[in-house]
Amino acid sequence: MPWNPEQYHKFQSERSAPFDDLLKMVMLRQGLKVVDLGCGTGELTSRLADALPGSTVVGLDNSPQMLEKAKLYQRPGLSFEMGDQAHLQGTWDLIFSNAALQWSEDHPKLVGRLYSQLAPGGQITVQVPSNHTHISHLLIQETAREEPFHSVLQGFVRVSPVLAIEDYAQLLFDLGAEKIVVFEKVFVHILENSDAVLEWVSGTALVPYFERLGGEKEHFLAILRKKLQSVMPNQPVLYPFKRTFFSAQKPD
Ligand SMILES: C[S@@+](CC[C@H](N)C(=O)[O-])C[C@H]1O[C@@H](n2cnc3c(N)ncnc32)[C@H](O)[C@@H]1O
Repeated sequence: MPWNPEQYHKFQSERSAPFDDLLKMVMLRQGLKVVDLGCGTGELTSRLADALPGSTVVGLDNSPQMLEKAKLYQRPGLSFEMGDQAHLQGTWDLIFSNAALQWSEDHPKLVGRLYSQLAPGGQITVQVPSNHTHISHLLIQETAREEPFHSVLQGFVRVSPVLAIEDYAQLLFDLGAEKIVVFEKVFVHILENSDAVLEWVSGTALVPYFERLGGEKEHFLAILRKKLQSVMPNQPVLYPFKRTFFSAQKPD
C-alpha cells in the first residue's frame, strides 16, 4: 500500500500515546533479539531500542516510503528491513508491534505463527486499533458500497481482522502462553472539527481505498467529508479511539 509518512505524522503525538502504553508492557531485559513489525517511519522503533540497551532491534515494514524515513534512525543494534509481517522469519526474544498487525488478515493464524517464532521465554507485545465500529469507519464502508465507488473499487471494502479482546486471551491461552495480559483502552482525542477526523483517517483507514480509487479519490473524500460533517457537527469534536493491547510470554 502506498503509505504517506507526512499524512500519517499529522497526528504524531496522539499516535505515539498508545506506543508509550505498549512499551510499559515490555519486560525490560538485556541482550534481546527484537523485531518491531510494521515499524513505519522508525522513530518509535528507535525509542524501543533506547529502552532495551544491548539488544539487537530490527524494524520490519513492507512500505518503501516508510522505510526510507526509518533508515535515518539506523545505528549499531538498530536496523530496518523490507518484509511482510505475516511471513516473519527467524526466532525472536521479543516480537513487538504498534498499530500494524491490523493490516494482516486471519489473526488466529497470524498470532499463532508469530507465537511459534518466539524463543523460549520470549514475549509478544502488540497494539492494534479496534475502532472499526466507530461511525467514521462505518461511513467509509458505506461510501465504498455506493456508486460510482463500488464499481471503481470492484466491490472492495476493507473489513478489520481485529478480534474481540477475549478472543486474543483465549488464543494465547490455547497456545500455552503465560503472563497473558489483554485490554482495550479508549484514547480521548479532541479534534478541531469533523474535517480533522477526515485528515486522521486519510493517514490510515483510507490508505487501501486511495490506491484503488484512482481519479475518484477526491470525489470519495468530498462525499465522506459531507457525511462526517453531518454526523459530527460539533467544534471541537470528540474522537474516542479504541485500541486493543495484548502481551504474553512463551514458557522457558
Ligand atoms: C499505522 S502504521 C504504524 C507504524 C509504526 N509502528 C508506528 O506506531 O508509528 C502501520 C505500518 O504497518 C506497515 N504494514 C502494513 N502491512 C504490513 C505488512 N503486511 N508487513 C509489514 N508492514 C506492514 C505499513 O507500511 C505502516 O508502516
